[in-house]
Amino acid sequence: MEKDYSDTCVLVTGASVGIGRETAKRFAARGARVAIVARRAELLDSLANEIVDDGGSSPLTITADLAAPESAPAVREAIDAEFARLDVLVNNAGGADRPGVALTDEVWTERFDINFHAKRRLTAALEPLLFDSPRGRVINLAGILEPQVVSASQAAVAACILWSKAYSRSVAARGMTVNCVAPGRVESEQIAKLFPDADSRAQFIEKDIPAGAFGAPEDVAELIVFLASEGAGYITGQVIAVDGGMSRSV
Ligand SMILES: NC(=O)c1ccc[n+]([C@@H]2O[C@H](COP(=O)([O-])OP(=O)(O)OC[C@H]3O[C@@H](n4cnc5c(N)ncnc54)[C@H](OP(=O)(O)O)[C@@H]3O)[C@@H](O)[C@H]2O)c1
Repeated sequence: MEKDYSDTCVLVTGASVGIGRETAKRFAARGARVAIVARRAELLDSLANEIVDDGGSSPLTITADLAAPESAPAVREAIDAEFARLDVLVNNAGGADRPGVALTDEVWTERFDINFHAKRRLTAALEPLLFDSPRGRVINLAGILEPQVVSASQAAVAACILWSKAYSRSVAARGMTVNCVAPGRVESEQIAKLFPDADSRAQFIEKDIPAGAFGAPEDVAELIVFLASEGAGYITGQVIAVDGGMSRSV
């Protein structure tokens, strides 16, 4: 694992909690300059303080609702002003909804906005900077359930996976890689809501997770940091699961 990201600028979306927060901390701990985006400014500020207390460079914090189309150009402007470059984009902001085919159009639109459109819009806005980088990297957070569960979020994640694969081919010759990281069940805010009690967790683990436990945000963050490394330059167009064996039967 590459130790030194000191010549690297990284943008992590959905960095206020969970996988995104851990990812931003890990990049900063290895010397990267990080920009962190989410809606909850106070959580971004507390993350920025943690990073500085741990010896990292002071992050650029950007408070934005990425589901809104105007957020992508605003984030680009902030990155231009602070870094004037970008090497790694981690499109992590997202979330799941309850399964079901009879969801309202409003739910479908909202889920696609954050789980698909926000990622492709931000990537398009930042593409010129990623092309200029000696190693542009796009890492999209996906999931492992999209072929199994009917839900607006899973359909949006499936769209993200297909788009990522096609996009990876079109930018590979520019030295850029595009990959998806697919968590199984990893401790976070949304997972705490889905599994509020010990019984529901134990039942799920017994039935579906061969490793015998939910994953930790660190498990996913380590892979993201690796995919951003120079050593991962020949890995592109992939969907890599971090799921304790959950997707073994897909
Ligand atoms: N944890 C899992 O087991 C799991 C499984 C499959 C896929 N994933 C995917 O992995 C990613 C991270 O998951 P997580 O479990 O760490 O999620 P989480 O704890 O629920 O955090 C989601 C993050 O996304 C941000 N976010 C959500 N909507 C946003 C919006 N409209 N604009 C800006 N930021 C927004 C949230 O920040 P604010 O609320 O502050 O805006 C938060 O930082 C997500 O894309 C998720 O779908 C996770």
